[in-house]
Amino acid sequence: MLFQYGKVVTGSHFYDRKEMQKKVLNFLTSGQSFMIKAPRRYGKTSLIKEVMRKNNIDCFSIDFRKTPRLEIFNDMLLEYVYSKMGIKGAIGQMKENAIAFLRQHKTTVGIKTDIFETSVEFFSNDKTSQDIRLTRALDFLENVAKELNTRFYVFFDEFQDVKKITSEFDILELMRGAIQHHEHICYIFAGSNMTMMTEVFENKKSPFYNFCRKLKLDAFDITELAKEIQAALRKKKIAFASDELLLSLLQRLKGHPANTMLVMGIIESKMMDNQKMMIDQAIIDEAYEEALEEMGDLISEYLKEVRTKEHLHDVLFRMANGEEQVLEPSSLQQKRKYLVDMGYLLHIDRGEYQIIDGFLEEDLKRFNG
Ligand SMILES: Nc1ncnc2c1ncn2[C@@H]1O[C@H](COP(=O)(O)OP(=O)(O)O)[C@@H](O)[C@H]1O
Ligand SMILES: [Mg+2]
Repeated sequence: MLFQYGKVVTGSHFYDRKEMQKKVLNFLTSGQSFMIKAPRRYGKTSLIKEVMRKNNIDCFSIDFRKTPRLEIFNDMLLEYVYSKMGIKGAIGQMKENAIAFLRQHKTTVGIKTDIFETSVEFFSNDKTSQDIRLTRALDFLENVAKELNTRFYVFFDEFQDVKKITSEFDILELMRGAIQHHEHICYIFAGSNMTMMTEVFENKKSPFYNFCRKLKLDAFDITELAKEIQAALRKKKIAFASDELLLSLLQRLKGHPANTMLVMGIIESKMMDNQKMMIDQAIIDEAYEEALEEMGDLISEYLKEVRTKEHLHDVLFRMANGEEQVLEPSSLQQKRKYLVDMGYLLHIDRGEYQIIDGFLEEDLKRFNG
């Protein structure tokens, strides 16, 4: 398959993003911590992973949307630190027999013995609370990087969800307290929940306010992408009937990375199945309809989220259908801001907005049948 949909894409499945790759690499090589925010399914994780892969940068990464509790994060982080010192499966060994663990690795471990010993003493004690373990584990990573005279990379994905892994204390405050002193770790924060990412990094009251550089990931660059798609298809001797046909499809999809790959993937398999070589309007339309249908569940999820706040659904509906808005200007302004923060709307110009997901827009249009 030339086009992949759903999971993180790297290598030959990774398209476009030349400028962003440069920016990310510059930050990484200079050790500059940064955050990247974009609506869900825009390619944040793929971008970070691709730059890391291409440049052989090793990285500890964790997705907080998938992490159920703090203890697991702590253990994963510790496992990583010890692996950097050449020890595999450290947590298991330590839990089983800390003294044997110490004895076995003391002489071979790549850092000063006292740092190693102190760490084993501390982390093998499972009565220590998880919040203290967290800050100590982060500091331990920094110390080991310093000892090894290197830089480590830590990628916190879906960072806005870090607050959900514990309810016992202010984890942002704790993390910031440790992280701000680290000179040998480059931290990368990514997040899809625009409201919460804005809250964490741009609210003056947040511990992470002005903590690092900020990147925003936009839609695909349609002209660049068109060239790359044509080159990829050429390998399978497939082509669009005309350049305009491809460009108008990409515009219809608004450069939305996941939606574009979904439709392209369907087109690709249709071509292979029917042993056809020329992509025409009929195939494009069929693929678009199939994609829209496949998106049904996700669109329902979106609408459910939108409806948690009053009026948002109707504002979107009116936009999609070109109807006039009826809210007071200040109230409308506020609703649009919510929708921008939630990742549904793009602010184009003064008073001008666009629905980010073309399939959501199509669904709102077809409500009346
Ligand atoms: N640079 C890219 N090239 C090709 N497809 C991409 C790219 N970025 C994103 N995608 C598409 O979008 C989907 C979601 O990407 P992902 O990196 O998981 O987004 P995010 O982390 O922002 O939610 C991928 O499965 C892929 O289909
Ligand atoms: Mg992601």
